[in-house]
Amino acid sequence: MQSTSRTLLESSTLSNESSTEIDLQAQAVKMPLRQVIPMIGPPNKQGAGKAYDSVLASRAALQVNVIDLVLVHWPGAAKIKPDSPENARLRRETWLELERAVLDGLVRYIGVSNYTAAHVRELLSYCTIRPAALQMELHPAYQPADVLDMCKTAGIFVQAYSSLGEGHLLDEKAWPMPVVQEAASKRGATRAQVLLAWARHRGWGTVPKSTRDERLAENLASGRIDLTEEEVVGINALACDFKFCWNPNVVR
Ligand SMILES: NC(=O)c1ccc[n+]([C@@H]2O[C@H](COP(=O)([O-])OP(=O)(O)OC[C@H]3O[C@@H](n4cnc5c(N)ncnc54)[C@H](OP(=O)(O)O)[C@@H]3O)[C@@H](O)[C@H]2O)c1
Repeated sequence: MQSTSRTLLESSTLSNESSTEIDLQAQAVKMPLRQVIPMIGPPNKQGAGKAYDSVLASRAALQVNVIDLVLVHWPGAAKIKPDSPENARLRRETWLELERAVLDGLVRYIGVSNYTAAHVRELLSYCTIRPAALQMELHPAYQPADVLDMCKTAGIFVQAYSSLGEGHLLDEKAWPMPVVQEAASKRGATRAQVLLAWARHRGWGTVPKSTRDERLAENLASGRIDLTEEEVVGINALACDFKFCWNPNVVR
């Protein structure tokens, strides 16, 4: 699977799912899509009898015969305490239904999101079809080596989200990161472009979000920026275990 610059995400965790679907269809007409990635979300779509139906619903909403990639959005489930063993049971049931969706030709690839190394290890212990991808928070401040190493060993494609730290990492005062700033200045590039180029050098896909056309173009142009090995190593060294988003480590 390729790291792709044009990726559309549909999250069934969004409260306005139906309007999201309409937006997706409108965008799909305008954009040459390479991947459509619905998520099996935590609210009520995990577990036996639900995950497969969720794939069918996404397929109908997106008006495609075969979905490129379906991700399990979160290792936990709605209304279940994070430390409950129920979560593991639901993860397993969800995965087995997604495997069935692949065998039935509804989906090409299946993967997970926000899984920790422990969740991935558990999944690998029973899956018949290995996860093709793991989407997770990744940026210079957060680069968890255990799960990244596990993905490398297991051949799981890593897709980064919040590559710009939800935009916070672009604030030079709050997050100076001189190595990022210098790499940007040297090339007449932006900090956002350097962060996305760095993710590409690490071998990760990215899904930067912007509501502004000029920023979408700017982010897309990061594909033309090459960093030196020294710069990549310098940015790697910024890791400080800082997350901007939710923390899946609490889910048993
Ligand atoms: N799987 C999951 O659980 C999960 C969780 C979080 C996010 N995601 C996915 O990841 C995608 C992106 O993550 P994210 O939204 O958390 O954070 P992000 O992509 O790191 O940052 C988005 C923010 O940065 C700003 N921005 C984007 N490009 C910019 C640029 N070139 N210059 C200046 N500002 C820029 C955007 O503002 P403007 O809109 O004003 O440009 C927005 O506020 C989301 O769309 C979502 O699909 C997945």
